[in-house]
Amino acid sequence: MQLSEIYKLVQEDLARVESQIKSVSEVDSPGLAELSSYILAGGKGIRPALTLLSGKFCHYNLDLLLPMATAVELMHTATLVHDDAIDNSPVRRGRPTINEVWGEDKAILLGDYLFAKAGEFVASTGNLRVIKLFSQILQTISGGELDQSFDAFNLEQTRDHYLQRISSKTASLFSMATESGAILSQAPEESIEVLREYGYNLGIAFQIVDDVLDFIGTEEEMGKPVGSDLAQGTLTLPAMLLLERYPDDNPVKELFSSNDMPEGDKQERIKQAIELVCNSPIVQECYAVASDYCARACHKLGLLPDNTSRQALKDLADLVISRKR
Ligand code: IPE
Ligand code: IPE
Ligand code: MG
Ligand code: MG
Repeated sequence: MQLSEIYKLVQEDLARVESQIKSVSEVDSPGLAELSSYILAGGKGIRPALTLLSGKFCHYNLDLLLPMATAVELMHTATLVHDDAIDNSPVRRGRPTINEVWGEDKAILLGDYLFAKAGEFVASTGNLRVIKLFSQILQTISGGELDQSFDAFNLEQTRDHYLQRISSKTASLFSMATESGAILSQAPEESIEVLREYGYNLGIAFQIVDDVLDFIGTEEEMGKPVGSDLAQGTLTLPAMLLLERYPDDNPVKELFSSNDMPEGDKQERIKQAIELVCNSPIVQECYAVASDYCARACHKLGLLPDNTSRQALKDLADLVISRKR
């Protein structure tokens, strides 16, 4: 199944979200207009789709869901702009990153602008609960990215550390996307909790798959570089499993233990690690963990009204596993 099929139910409203997002670039400052229109295109739109789909279980109110879905995508894009600046990453959404073209300072300022703009959209719902949620989730994401930065090249990390980090940096925003959609459609508390949990578990699965694709994917399909997590010193699930499997002679261990390895040797270790992961059951093991989180995500969907949106959420969970981008 394609994303476009899953989005069908909310297709027209997603197009409205897109035009709201475009309107962000309609500003007097030519620099800001150029940078924002450059980066605010080419995303898959999963998070705003989640907000709209989650609004379909009670009183679907586009006046509130539209600004919320817009805010969710703006916030997500802001985190990507900052993430790429931190990582000095060269490619995003199939194009050179903001930091690559305009430099790190512009990327930081653009990210800040997009966060603020997202806040303005959330505030326009007038709903204090989602306004509060927005600021809490922004704190959580920043905390997760900070943890990742502090843990760079640290080999003493457990699977719990990893899950905690991806829960903060990724699952939190997925859960905000679904929870806010439920809140703004006045769903009963029980449904809000079901959708919040769905978003959270889907987000964990999404990040695990992203971390696997960083080993087995291609830049062409993903629109971003492969092998970048190891290069940044980020220990993800596939790398952890590789360390468990080969505790002694291990390219990840060598890469993370040496702080003055020449660039060519680093690239060689990354290549070796990718090959080892690809030629072992690690990929399947990671997909099994991700599938388990998708199953958890869908577990309580049965408590929601049986409608096409519920089916779309189930289909999306399957797609998160099979995706190549
Ligand atoms: C990338 O998210 C960041 C992660 C949480 C892995 P997406 O893969 O949804 O990025 P876009 O929006 O489609 O570019
Ligand atoms: C998600 O993790 C980053 C954010 C929360 C911004 P990644 O660092 O894996 O995302 P990509 O791979 O750069 O898209
Ligand atoms: Mg990154
Ligand atoms: Mg990644």
